[in-house]
Amino acid sequence: MQPLDEIAQPGSREREILERLDPHRLPRHVAIIMDGNGRWAQARGLPRVEGHRAGVRAVREVVETAARLGLEAITLYAFSTENWKRPRHEVLTLMALLEEYIGRELETMRSNNLRFRPIGRLDELDRSVQKALARAVAQTAACTGTVIQIALNYSGRQELTELVRAAVAEARLGAVAAEAVDEAWVEARLATSGLADPDLLIRTSGEQRISNFLLWQLAYTEIAFSPVLWPDFRQADLLEALVDYQQRERRFGGLAPQAGVLSAPGTARA
Ligand code: IPE
Ligand code: IPE
Ligand code: MG
Repeated sequence: MQPLDEIAQPGSREREILERLDPHRLPRHVAIIMDGNGRWAQARGLPRVEGHRAGVRAVREVVETAARLGLEAITLYAFSTENWKRPRHEVLTLMALLEEYIGRELETMRSNNLRFRPIGRLDELDRSVQKALARAVAQTAACTGTVIQIALNYSGRQELTELVRAAVAEARLGAVAAEAVDEAWVEARLATSGLADPDLLIRTSGEQRISNFLLWQLAYTEIAFSPVLWPDFRQADLLEALVDYQQRERRFGGLAPQAGVLSAPGTARA
C-alpha cells in the first residue's frame, strides 16, 4: 500500500476513511458489478449512453485506488452476455467506450505495473475491440502489480458450461479420468484461474442480485450493496466498502473465532 498522503489529502473525507482502514487486512481481490449508468442518465434527462460515458470516470478512480492500495486484483463487470439484448446503439456505444478507455489508459496501466486481463467470450466481440484487448494484454503481460480483470461478454453459467463440455471432451479422448475432475481441476480452467476468489463483491445502484457474475468464484465472497449509481461511485465509496468489509466475520462454514482471537477478513480460504 502506498503512503496515505499519496492516496488521499490530509483532512479530506477519503483520508478520514483511510485512517480507519487496516492496511494488513485488505481484501486480496475485489469484484464490482458496475450498475446504474442508465438510471444516472435518465435522472438527468440524458440518453442512457451518457451514463456509460460518465461511468468511465468511476472506473478510472477505482482502478487507481485498487492499485494504490496494492490489491492483488480488481474484477469489473463491464458487459454480460445478456447485455446484447439492449438496443444496438447502446451496445455499440459501450464497445466504443471500452476501446477508447483501453487506448487512453494503456500507458498508465503499463507505467503503474498493472496487468490487464479481460475475461468472457472475447471471440464474439468486434474485431477492433478484440485487437485493442489483445494489445493491452500483450503490453501489460510482464506487469506484476494489481490485475485489472474486466468481464466482457461474460456469463458465469456459460463459463461453467464450457468447462463441463471440456471435461467431457477430454474424458472421451482418455485425457482425463472422471475421478480426476475435482475442484482444483475446475479452478485451473476457470477464466479467473491463478487469482484468489474475490473476497468482496460490490454492486452499485441498489440492485441486490448477482446477474450471472462469477458464479463459482463468489461461493464465499462477502457482498456489499451500495445505493450509489455507478457514475457517482468514488474513491471514498470504495474505501467505505473496504472498512465495512473489515468489520465482517468470515467463517467459511466453520465457527466464530473465540473471543479475543480476531479473524482476519483479509485472509482467503486456507
Ligand atoms: C451498468 O449500468 C452498465 C452495464 C450493464 C453495461 P446499466 O446500463 O445497467 O444501468 P441501469 O441499471 O439501467 O440504471
Ligand atoms: C449486470 O448489470 C451486468 C453489468 C454490470 C455489466 P445489468 O444491469 O445488466 O443486470 P440486471 O439486468 O439488472 O440484472
Ligand atoms: Mg443495470
